[in-house]
Amino acid sequence: MPRIYLSPPHLSGHELEYLQDAVESNWIAPLGPQVDALEQELAGLIGVPNALALSSGTAALHLALVVLGIGHGAEVACSSFTFSASANPVVYAGASPVFVDADAATWTMDPGLLEQALAERPSIRAVVAVDLYGQCCDYDRIRELCAARGVTLIQDAAESLGAAYGDEPAGGQGDLAAFSFNGNKVITTSGGGMLVSANRDWIEHARKLSTQARDFAPHYEHTELGFNYRLSNLLAAVGRAQLAVLPERVAARRRINERYRELLADVDGLSFMPEAPYGRSNCWLTCVVVDPERSGTDRERIRLALEAEDVESRPLWKPMHLQPFFADAPLYGGEVSAALFERGLCLPSGSSLGDDDQRRVVEILLATRS
Ligand SMILES: Cc1ncc(COP(=O)(O)O)c(C=O)c1O
Repeated sequence: MPRIYLSPPHLSGHELEYLQDAVESNWIAPLGPQVDALEQELAGLIGVPNALALSSGTAALHLALVVLGIGHGAEVACSSFTFSASANPVVYAGASPVFVDADAATWTMDPGLLEQALAERPSIRAVVAVDLYGQCCDYDRIRELCAARGVTLIQDAAESLGAAYGDEPAGGQGDLAAFSFNGNKVITTSGGGMLVSANRDWIEHARKLSTQARDFAPHYEHTELGFNYRLSNLLAAVGRAQLAVLPERVAARRRINERYRELLADVDGLSFMPEAPYGRSNCWLTCVVVDPERSGTDRERIRLALEAEDVESRPLWKPMHLQPFFADAPLYGGEVSAALFERGLCLPSGSSLGDDDQRRVVEILLATRS
């Protein structure tokens, strides 16, 4: 039987048409009309006027910090429960991360702990709030705290494209937001990202920085440090074909999540990532937490049993405050994400996962109980 992956790419069937357009127009490098169109289409979808297509979500977060002028001496409060790419750009920029634990009710940044960090650390100049596994942070509270202290809010929406905060699409809640089109995301360009903001100056500055910071001159003239971070026109073509099916992809992931909940409803000691009342997750990955005392199994036993049957699953993110690289960074809270990491598992959640394969995953999981 073919391997079941955690979250593989799911093509729409129209990628080749868009790619053909790009090839026939000879716009295969460096930028081109597909990039412009992808930026406009995504901006329209999110309801934010300015968008910049980039080579990755990591690049988007890095440029967000650079255009804000964040560098040496500055601190940036960042969710601890996330992938390292949320925090690494803080270090690229020469600043220092301060980690903030998750709220047990949403698994996203705990606003109470953020409030404490902001009150105690005048060096904090920005907040990177991460929309985890497709669920938005509690932005009403986080925005209020940022506004009160005059710090800028960067929304790491790498995992939340297609989710909603209230009635609004995810990505419009931060002063800037970063999306990822990495291969494991809800839609993909094979690799890519997008920076969006209502602030046109920030996006235009990031645009300049992303193409080696070329000044306006016939020769190569540079007054500031540049980067090579743009998305190629070929990859943008793939992205447009993918973006066109975003609602279907989100619906499929939500259905898969719903089905896991039904099929595993009777398992004592197994719980799911809670869906916050303020929004609608895109259910990028379905996450479960396994209590070994009550369930008769545990996270590692399930993961190894799945792997033995050629099914990919993965522990929840190891929090940044437990990563050796960030061992010296200041931390607020820490126990919530540490406990989730200890007991949590991401199950196969790709939008192409068929009913039979999902049933197989569930049967393997159930058979691990003693
Ligand atoms: C929360 C989070 N932030 C940032 C990134 C970085 O995105 P990319 O892989 O496109 O650089 C990812 C995913 O890879 C992510 O999951």
